[in-house]
Amino acid sequence: MNLTLYVWRQKGPADKGRLVQYEAKDISPDMSFLEMLDVVNERLIVKGDVPIAFDSDCREGICGMCGQVVNGVPHGPQEKTTVCQLHMRHFKDGDSIYIEPFRARAFPVVKDLVVDRSAFDRIIQAGGYISVHTGGVPDGNAILVPKHDADIAMDAAECIGCGACVAACPNGSAMLFTSAKVTQLAMLPQGRPEAARRVCVMTEEMLSQGFGNCANHYECQAACPKGIKVQFIAKLNREFIKAQMPGTGVK
Ligand code: SF4
Ligand code: FES
Repeated sequence: MNLTLYVWRQKGPADKGRLVQYEAKDISPDMSFLEMLDVVNERLIVKGDVPIAFDSDCREGICGMCGQVVNGVPHGPQEKTTVCQLHMRHFKDGDSIYIEPFRARAFPVVKDLVVDRSAFDRIIQAGGYISVHTGGVPDGNAILVPKHDADIAMDAAECIGCGACVAACPNGSAMLFTSAKVTQLAMLPQGRPEAARRVCVMTEEMLSQGFGNCANHYECQAACPKGIKVQFIAKLNREFIKAQMPGTGVK
């Protein structure tokens, strides 16, 4: 395949940035999108040019490190697929492809396609954990969890923290991410003792990191490579309202 790429190049946070055209020739349709960029970068290096900076780690769709906007869509055109699992056979020979970083106020561009997503880490640090004593492994196995609750918790736990939901949202909202992280713990008995405090501090941290509000566009759900549903946002809202009730210990 021969492709024309328009890639966002930005030297650093202070640089204005611009789209730069590259010809990607002799690309195998079996390559992943990131392998295609690897080939482009190898050729840039041979020519003495600076390679395109982009994030990746597992390249198996599980770590959440990769993230680019491909032809206007975070993670590209393939539904429920991270850009590292997107294959070139989904494009046509001769295509023009526009590749840009995730764009959101809370995710500043570091360089080229790399953005700083540490705002997500700060939301998790605020309360995305269990600190009560839950006993040893045998105790954990003895705590019965209804199948329906376990299924919801597991679905929420599929979130890989990639940030595509934020990039897709016109408001740059992190509600889908935060709601998945709140729900995965709120559905389990081990997570209930701190559920009220957790939802309050994680929501407060989310707002303080510069993310926008949810306005029910549902773009987050459409872009999510893990199929996280907006129903989790409703769950977060219910947890938040419950936390305001007398007796929860939340001030
Ligand atoms: S909710 Fe989906 S899009 Fe958002 S961070 Fe999690 S996996 Fe990525
Ligand atoms: S590199 Fe890990 S999810 Fe894409």
